[in-house]
Amino acid sequence: TMSRQEWAEEVHRLARERDAVILAHNYQRPEIQDVAHHTGDSLALSRLAAEVDAGTIVFCGVHFMAETAKILSPEKTVLLPDLAAGCSLADTITAEDVRAWRAEHPGAVVVAYVNTSAAVKAESDICCTSSNAADVIRSVPEDQEILFLPDQFLGAHVKRVTGRDNIHVWMGECHVHAGIDGHTLRERVAAEPEAELYVHPECGCATSALYLVGSGAVPQERVKVLSTGGMLSAAEKSSASKVLIATETGMLHQLRAANPATAFEPVNPRAECHYMKMITADKLLATLREGTGEITVDAATAARARRSVERMVAIGS
Ligand code: 13P
Ligand code: SF4
Repeated sequence: TMSRQEWAEEVHRLARERDAVILAHNYQRPEIQDVAHHTGDSLALSRLAAEVDAGTIVFCGVHFMAETAKILSPEKTVLLPDLAAGCSLADTITAEDVRAWRAEHPGAVVVAYVNTSAAVKAESDICCTSSNAADVIRSVPEDQEILFLPDQFLGAHVKRVTGRDNIHVWMGECHVHAGIDGHTLRERVAAEPEAELYVHPECGCATSALYLVGSGAVPQERVKVLSTGGMLSAAEKSSASKVLIATETGMLHQLRAANPATAFEPVNPRAECHYMKMITADKLLATLREGTGEITVDAATAARARRSVERMVAIGS
């Protein structure tokens, strides 16, 4: 058996041989994040996928992320070390659902969170991620109705921050983030009254976090609603002694490395995405050796989905 060091060297040697760049999402296992050439949130990884020179992208993340990379770089080979790494949120809506919903609201602009299949993106007008959702909404003229899909908590969040009331929200959720609910949050905050709080907008508790601020229970400056990339930037600058983190627990690895002087603790230590964790050291090696796990998106779907994704990538983060 190989040591961690030997494994990492072999991964990098095989990547060079294959002209491959390894991208990893912030929720990946620590060893995968450490071996990757780049880590980031959904938006940063989409941008990287569009920019890198390598002929192959090995995507350590989930299926919709690898698909987004393929949509943006159709000439590149995109490999996902386990094709079964899906997303419970992306599974809450189909292309058929989008067509039916649009038919009920003629003239509405369909904004799709990047956590959707290529077929759903193809039926949408513009994509967004958690880091640019509000900017994407603001890019749509005020008087135009918006259909926001598929995450109800992110949808409620963008309605709140943009103050728009003509946004209809699909009632999907991510089982991991929905499980970080208001009750769990209130208990943790009561036990750690001095701590700061970083909340991912997909969380069931995103509304409760702002309620805690609104009711005066927690001072405004201690609560931030952020994408995973936003959490990392905030962590680097933080002088807090403790920050409670409401998102998937894989995030803690980089937060702790970025700022050892601050204690980062999960709001819900059981908030683990088993899809993200399907990408293991062995599977990454096998993909690099054998070129397995290739992502394909049919040309017509990819062309339609690309317009939505490119509009998103062009809007600031
Ligand atoms: P971001 O990394 O873009 O914040 O997305 C979170 C997520 O749940 C991806 O699955
Ligand atoms: Fe999907 Fe939730 Fe896992 Fe993110 S954490 S990949 S939204 S199931």
